[in-house]
Amino acid sequence: MNLHLKKIALLSAVLGASLACAGPVQAQSATPAPDNEALDVEQLFAGTCGFCHSDGGRAAGKGPQLMNSQRDDDFLRNRIKHGKQGAMPAFDGAFTDAQIDQMIKYIRALKPREG
Ligand code: HEC
Repeated sequence: MNLHLKKIALLSAVLGASLACAGPVQAQSATPAPDNEALDVEQLFAGTCGFCHSDGGRAAGKGPQLMNSQRDDDFLRNRIKHGKQGAMPAFDGAFTDAQIDQMIKYIRALKPREG
């Protein structure tokens, strides 16, 4: 009888421990995997371009503000692809033409943040 109770106590201790372990693992696998199909331009901008083009391109930083650019698409494409000596790195090898087109679309769609 006593032994039986001990077994149950042991069992529930083991179960409890394994449940506690399962928690964080489950939480991890629940986070969405990065979507490699579509380029998340906003994310990319924050990471790759945000160092110089502040607030997702809405404000000037080391580089100019991109929102409301008066430049045409060819100029923007050319600048992103080839950069500018001593000012901006070239991203020709880093992104495909289609991805660069997406960035231009993103720049054109930029609006001031609400609030
Ligand atoms: C190291 C800093 C730096 C990084 C990183 C950078 N830029 Fe630039 N960018 C600049 C500077 C400086 C200029 C202005 C160049 C000039 O004098 O014409 C510029 C200009 C531009 C222009 C032309 C805007 C205009 O009106 O002249 C575009 C478009 C642009 N950058 C897009 C991007 C994108 C997209 C990325 C990320 C993939 C990026 N930049 C990353 C510094 C940077």
